This record gives sequence, C-alpha cells and structure tokens, in this order.
Amino acid sequence: MKILVTGGLGFIGSHTVVELQNKGFEVVIVDNLSNASEKVIDGIIAITGKKPLFENFDLRDKPKVEDFFSRHNDIEGVIHFAASKAVGESVEKPLLYYENNLGVLTYILQELSKKGSANFIFSSSCTVYGQADKMPITEDAPVKSAESPYGNTKQVGEEIIQDTCKVTPHISAIALRYFNPFGAHPSVEIGELPSGVPQNLVPFITQTGIGLREQLSVFGDDYPTADGTCIRDYIHVVDLAKAHVAALQRLVNDENEENYEVFNLGTGTGSSVLEVIKSFERVSGKKLNYKIVRRRAGDVIEAYADTTKANAVLGWRAESTLDEAMKSAWDWEQKIRS
Ligand code: WQD
Repeated sequence: MKILVTGGLGFIGSHTVVELQNKGFEVVIVDNLSNASEKVIDGIIAITGKKPLFENFDLRDKPKVEDFFSRHNDIEGVIHFAASKAVGESVEKPLLYYENNLGVLTYILQELSKKGSANFIFSSSCTVYGQADKMPITEDAPVKSAESPYGNTKQVGEEIIQDTCKVTPHISAIALRYFNPFGAHPSVEIGELPSGVPQNLVPFITQTGIGLREQLSVFGDDYPTADGTCIRDYIHVVDLAKAHVAALQRLVNDENEENYEVFNLGTGTGSSVLEVIKSFERVSGKKLNYKIVRRRAGDVIEAYADTTKANAVLGWRAESTLDEAMKSAWDWEQKIRS
C-alpha cells in the first residue's frame, strides 16, 4: 500500500518513513528541502534497507500537486508533515505561514476529495490548547485562541479538515496533537537537524553539551511549579513516529468510528526544564553550563498529555523514558559533530 509522506525528510517525517517501511508500507516522500537534506534518504536506507520514492517540489505549487496526484493515483494514505513550524518566525511572516501551512493543506484535501476513498493524518500540536486549565490535558480540553500565527495554523488546519470530512464521507482523517518531540533514531542514522540557533530546549542542550553553544539560557525559574521552571511532555520521536503508523492502520483498516478523530501524543508525564537538564547530565556524564534568564514571551507554565485515548483506541503507548530518549539525542549530537 502506497503512502504519501509530505515533509518526509524532516525530523518527525523521516522517523515516520522508517516506521512505515518497517510495517511494509510503500512510501513516496514529497519534500522541498527547505528544512531538510536529501542525505536523510541515505539514513533511512541504512536503517530499513528500503529506498523510499522521493520527489522534490514545493507543495505551494498547486499545478505540481495536481500533477503529482494524477501520476500517483494509487496513493491510499497521506501523512502531512510539510509545514513551517517556527513560532517566532510565524509572528514576523504570518502570510508565509498561512500560505504554507493552510493553502497547501487545502490543495491536498482537494486532491483527496477527487478520490474514491482517502486516509489523511495531520500533524497538529498541543499548542492548540494554549495554557490548559487542567493537567493532564485531554482531547476535549478547550482549544484556546492561538498565541502565534503558527499555533493558529494548527487550529485552523484542524477546522479545515473537520469541515471537509463533514461533507466528504470518503475522507477519513486523524489529527495528532504532538507534545514535545525530541531525540533520534537509536541507530544514529537519522535525527534532528535544526538549522541555525535551535529554538527548542533539547537541541540547545545537546549543542551546549558538545560545545557548539556557550551556555543554555533557562527562560525563567519563577513559574508556579515545583522548581520554578516550565513543565512539558517530552516524547521520543520514535514513539511519536510509531503513533502515526498506528493511526494510519486504524484508518486503512476502517476501524475508525468517526471520519475525523483527534489524539494527544505524549508520554503522560510532565518534566521541568531543570529535570531535562539533569537528564542530560545523567546520560552524558557532563555538567551543563546554563544560566537562568527572564521568561520567554508566549511560554505556557505547563503542558502534559492525558494519553488514555491514544493508549486505548490506537493501542499505542510511548515506551522510551526521558533518559533513554535523551541518550539518543546526545548520541546523535556527538555523531553529527564528529
Ligand atoms: C520547552 C521549554 C522553554 C529553549 C514548541 C512549540 C510547539 C512544538 C514544540 C512544533 C519551555 C524552555 C527552551 C531554551 C529554555 N513545536 N527553553 N531555553 O515552546 O514547549 O513548544 O516546540 O510543533 O508548537 O511551541 O518547546 O523546546 O521551545 O521549550 O528554557 O533555549 O524549554 O521556556 O519552557 P515549546 P521548547
């Protein structure tokens, strides 16, 4: 069965391609290499021994999207990762985000609407919850008004899919709300390749550990949490990738009750910034150089998932501990800098 993975050479996309191949799916990747390298294909082959099909074009080019789907009319599922995802950049360039994250989504859904049946997995984010009122966060927690155009594209993206599914019963869709993905494949053949200064915590930690960054700034230790730093649900990227395959299998096997469903993907455990730093120090045996600075605008105090629904309905559960995932991140950092 052939599956389109858009953004399939990116961080979560590439790890999902590996897990799809492990389950026997044929994969075709579309990626414009704006935030990925074609060399990632070699890493995928090194792990699975299977070369995915790959086409390099920009999904904002509607005629190219139409041509692609006419040439690959045997595609039975789409996992859609291709999107811009830098919160700060989205504030400066909202139109880029609305075109790339929403315009492209409508082109793909238009193509799926033409097919007899279609399965669609959407890369969403816990950012839709904003600062949720109750922890752990369940899927029926209220979606709060987005703090950034990036977050808004996830909220509106879900609404676009939901509205489409309402009038197109032959499209079955699942939105996966990621918490905080990090780490790398244990083979250290693929991992995260942040371009420029990492925005996210873990890559900044490992780059500081390897000496690429002088010092980690911890954005605030005056939050109402046990140690004063923000709490998040850090999930290993391989666990996250496996959840995508479980969600796809639910759709291709027609096990879904509704043709639009939402799942939180996390470990169900919250970890503070200082706890993540301690995890790095345990797995690396290094003391991390960090300092406390003032809060970062837009940060929520805490966000960690209630994973009951994904566990029960998808039959999926995150397996890696924080330290195991952190070790994979550190092993990867050491490899790419060697
Ligand atoms: C985690 C914690 C920071 C960097 C973002 C997006 C979200 C999703 C995941 C795409 C926070 C602190 C961070 C640093 C720090 N992305 N921190 N120093 O903000 O929870 O989520 O990435 O889907 O949509 O919003 O992740 O890793 O940036 O921050 O102290 O140099 O680490 O304040 O408490 P975040 P993050």
